[in-house]
Amino acid sequence: MISRDEQTIDHDGTVETARPILCVVGARPNYMKMAPIIRALAALGNAVPPVLVHTGQHYDAAMNDSFFTALGMPRPAVNLEVGSASHAVQTAEIMKRFEPVVDAHRPAAVLVVGDVNSTIACALVAAKKGIPVVHVEAGLRGCDRAMPEGVNRVLTDQIADLLYTTERSAAANLHAEGIGDERIVFVGNVMIDTLLANVEAAVPVATTLAGLPIADAVFADRDAASYGVVTLHRPSNVDDRVTLTRLIGALGEISARLPLVLALHPRTRSRLAEFGLSDAFDPSRIAILPPQGYLEMLGLMAKATMVLTDSGGLQEETTALGVPCLTIRENTERPITIAEGTNTLCGTDARRIVDSAFEILASGGKRGRAPELWDGHAAERIARHLAGWIAARRGRDGTIAEPKTTIGSIRKAA
Ligand code: UD1
Repeated sequence: MISRDEQTIDHDGTVETARPILCVVGARPNYMKMAPIIRALAALGNAVPPVLVHTGQHYDAAMNDSFFTALGMPRPAVNLEVGSASHAVQTAEIMKRFEPVVDAHRPAAVLVVGDVNSTIACALVAAKKGIPVVHVEAGLRGCDRAMPEGVNRVLTDQIADLLYTTERSAAANLHAEGIGDERIVFVGNVMIDTLLANVEAAVPVATTLAGLPIADAVFADRDAASYGVVTLHRPSNVDDRVTLTRLIGALGEISARLPLVLALHPRTRSRLAEFGLSDAFDPSRIAILPPQGYLEMLGLMAKATMVLTDSGGLQEETTALGVPCLTIRENTERPITIAEGTNTLCGTDARRIVDSAFEILASGGKRGRAPELWDGHAAERIARHLAGWIAARRGRDGTIAEPKTTIGSIRKAA
């Protein structure tokens, strides 16, 4: 059997069309991870044609449309339009709506990224149908089951057939859970592919902040903009009135010395309104912006004095940009950003956050270095490896011949 682009031609002359890979996105942090993968798979000339499926977990234009445009992503072939709901309802609804899509496309594999509810929901549907599951950004562990993403990561990795990792520590985490080396491939970080490809095109800070009361403070020193970027959206930080009030107090104290730009997630915006905290900010020291587009956020981060965040992605992006990052959480699933990058965990205690920020102002903060394989080519490595992996599994009749990993083989690998 020989493969030629989208067709596989058997020696008896039978022609098969290559089965697609369903590539799933659902929430904002998925888009920048998937964009280079789609591009790299498409560059293989339809050997493994990607079909983009959007679950609709995120749906606001600010959380969605602008990213597809900025990242040059094709419009999704399918949108499941699930929207917001409790975790159980959202996950179940994604599963119900994804199953017929899998049936219709008979994919060679389902590829999921990251750790959001869409990731586990679609992985589970595929696994139960015997379709190989490919997980990009596998093996990250914050050891915090209170975070919904922590649960999503562990479960997705257990049922994935092929696990692509961003840092070497991930393999040890997977080994500890009984996942063998034959399923794990260290490829680097696809999100950094997107960052490196777009950093030159980032929107300048002056454009993003034009006309806002904060601009005077940010550009007070004519030589360089001076400001911090803040994002907060973890339920543990924003859903509790006492915690959120405490964090806002800390930001207020920091803003007396460094103007802050806060890009507000819809969840946080609703909580601020619910707790009567929407007016708790002095607009000349803390600018509240709507969720930013990818190129706007990249421009803001690239020139920032520091970033304060509870996001996973920003910890990695700041490391790639060499910008000091304070992570407002008690743990991180991305330890390389601390060991080699610019990240510092500062917890959620107000005093510690303020002291850590002032320490960065005094010292300039960590500069770090780019971690191994965060070089802009992770997606190409994935595409090449995946094409070979799928070709190796393809049987004469075009079905996936090799049996799926069983509990027995997982135990054996342990
Ligand atoms: C989700 C991911 C989280 C990721 C984050 C990035 C899970 C469990 N969490 O959290 O890992 O870091 O996305 O943003 O999957 N909302 C809107 N418009 C939208 C989307 C959401 O207004 O387009 C509001 C709704 O009130 C919704 C709330 O935000 O209930 C939370 O949305 P949801 O998708 O459940 O989780 P995120 O907090 O966004």
